[in-house]
Amino acid sequence: MSDKKEEFYTARGYEISADKDTLTPSMEDYIEMIYRLSITNGYTRVNDLAAKLNVQPPSVTRMMKKLHEKNLLDYEKYGMIQLTEEGKRLGSFFLERHNTLEKFLILLGIKEYVQKEVEQMEHYVSWESFQVINRFVNFIEDHPEIMEKFEAYKNNISQEAD
Ligand code: FE2
Repeated sequence: MSDKKEEFYTARGYEISADKDTLTPSMEDYIEMIYRLSITNGYTRVNDLAAKLNVQPPSVTRMMKKLHEKNLLDYEKYGMIQLTEEGKRLGSFFLERHNTLEKFLILLGIKEYVQKEVEQMEHYVSWESFQVINRFVNFIEDHPEIMEKFEAYKNNISQEAD
């Protein structure tokens, strides 16, 4: 898995110096959420982050320490959290990856547990798959008639099965 990530960041042109191949899914979630919460003000707070991620503030503080060691953010204990430039680059990519996978599942007509599935898929999708899925989503947005055909095809099959 770490090989995959390595390739992934390289392909993306990320120049992350510290331990870039050792971001765990949980670290990716933190970075993504900090990025989301910082969009308006440029920073977020330990308590807000804890509430959004459904964890206790001390767990957030522990994670902040690890991410700070990787040069991805600066923080004050129990206070303000700010992503570094590297953290922001990753955060914006994680958010884009999340949104693209969500659109992809919705386009396919998936209705249940979309968020839950995205939360799992996002950490394991390879760079190559992500690129292709992203192109597919853009392509379908430009050609909605193709998805209408697919919808009709799916309906046909389920009627035959009934
Ligand atoms: Fe996510």
